[in-house]
Amino acid sequence: MTRQFSTVGVVGLGTMGAGIAEVLARTGVTVVAVDVDDAGLARGRDHLEHSTDRAVARGKLTAAERDDLLSRISYDTSLTALAGADLVVEAVPERMGLKAAVFTELDRICRPDAVFASNTSSLSITEIGVHTGRPGKVVGLHFFNPAPVLRLVEVVRTVVTEPDVVADVVAFVEGLGKAPVVIGDRAGFIANALLFGYLNHAVRMYESRYATREDLDAAMRHGCGYPMGPLALLDLIGLDTAYEILDTMYHQSRNRLHAPAPLLKQMITAGLLGRKSGRGFYTYD
Ligand code: CAA
Repeated sequence: MTRQFSTVGVVGLGTMGAGIAEVLARTGVTVVAVDVDDAGLARGRDHLEHSTDRAVARGKLTAAERDDLLSRISYDTSLTALAGADLVVEAVPERMGLKAAVFTELDRICRPDAVFASNTSSLSITEIGVHTGRPGKVVGLHFFNPAPVLRLVEVVRTVVTEPDVVADVVAFVEGLGKAPVVIGDRAGFIANALLFGYLNHAVRMYESRYATREDLDAAMRHGCGYPMGPLALLDLIGLDTAYEILDTMYHQSRNRLHAPAPLLKQMITAGLLGRKSGRGFYTYD
């Protein structure tokens, strides 16, 4: 029998977690959102309000639909609030130690039949799964930023994920109006493995002063039809996140394409993380 994921937990309310909570609540799912502290919850709530206001302004939601959407999300600072969840989607920072600790704790709290998903971009789902007593019920569920807008969701199965869990998660993702693809557990999955070599190459071109940031971005927008140029996209993704993804892929494949451009590290050290810190390759208000 197909599992129904009617109550879904989202752990970590950063850009991705808040976006995923919005996608879920928009289709009638009851969402329990958890972050470590009140400041984390407030940041997530702000993000949700801002994003859904934009959806109303652009005619994608009515004001009443936005209010219903927001009323389906409850907030908590403790993972124990997820005891009744059918599915939990984790979106905490990309550190294996942190994710492992979250899943070990969730395994203790949640029902044995609950399914666990990680929104990781490049860490191993297999490794995450073995930190639980239910590796057969652990999948990757990789959304793209901005989650309410972009349709792709990569569903990652490991060698031990139960086939019916994958099938039920795929059906659920389709029900969210998204376009799932199912893949094995390899750093970068499909989209990031292809995208980040290109983004890294753009940073190297900029670093060598081959072209200005504006010309680099204009070339890919106007010449290739991309909605954003590579440097603007890196600012959207966050330079710290981009660095972590590149570094993980480089360590797994040793492909020089993914060796992070030195400028990325320098900008991160200087606090230039992109939109979230107000400045990256460009400056934001
Ligand atoms: N709900 C529903 N729809 C929404 C919405 C919301 N909350 N907010 C905005 N929209 C809709 C808008 O109505 C608009 O649709 P229409 O064109 O039909 O009107 C569309 O989304 C775009 O919205 P905006 O006008 O606000 O923004 P924009 O036109 O400037 O586009 C963008 C911004 C969506 C970011 C676009 O530039 C884009 O798609 N860029 C590429 C992003 C990308 O490549 N992301 C992947 C990053 S990699 C990643 O995420 C993986 C990882 O692991 C890091």
